[in-house]
Amino acid sequence: MHASDIENELTEVLYTKQQVDDRLAAVAAQIDADYAGKEVLCIGVLNGAVMVMADLTRHMKSHLQMDWMAISSYGAGTKSSGVVRILKDLSADIEGRDVLIVEDIIDTGLTLAYLVQNLRSRKPASLEIMTMFRKPDALKSDVDVRYVGFDLPDEFVVGFGLDYAGRYRNLTDVGTLAPHVYS
Ligand code: IMP
Ligand code: MG
Repeated sequence: MHASDIENELTEVLYTKQQVDDRLAAVAAQIDADYAGKEVLCIGVLNGAVMVMADLTRHMKSHLQMDWMAISSYGAGTKSSGVVRILKDLSADIEGRDVLIVEDIIDTGLTLAYLVQNLRSRKPASLEIMTMFRKPDALKSDVDVRYVGFDLPDEFVVGFGLDYAGRYRNLTDVGTLAPHVYS
């Protein structure tokens, strides 16, 4: 699905498919350089990170491995509580591995803080974070994010894996929703 297919449901296109892809190519090159001589284990956080993982890793030129985790954060409202439940754990041990968490978006950073703490206890050789999008609140969190695709304004966005009520993950562009969609 492209922005042009749902024109009346979006108020603004923030990033086109092309802009997202160009940025991912640049980040991939940076990761390749930083992990030269190592085989990175990319851990995707389901469901949002599926698109980022697929496109980021295909831009990378080095050998790598992938694994997935699914987590759900408790609490009502649109902001997460930081209380997290693991719905699907990793399929393999990460002890001694160079791990890169691949995320779609960091808002409060609470979900990520939990994940970092959890993965660190499994003794990886290194643990870094890549996120496609970052909201302003994330800067207040003390989780250190090494790779960021784009810094977003504090608005609710959809597309490229990001959903509203389960929809829009398959939108290739990234945009803000029109108010009538919420009501
Ligand atoms: P936090 O960093 O713990 O606050 O939560 C991040 C999670 O909130 C992401 O993984 C998304 O599921 C969701 N989220 C935050 N902002 C947005 C948005 O603008 N669009 C879609 N999902 C969002
Ligand atoms: Mg997520």
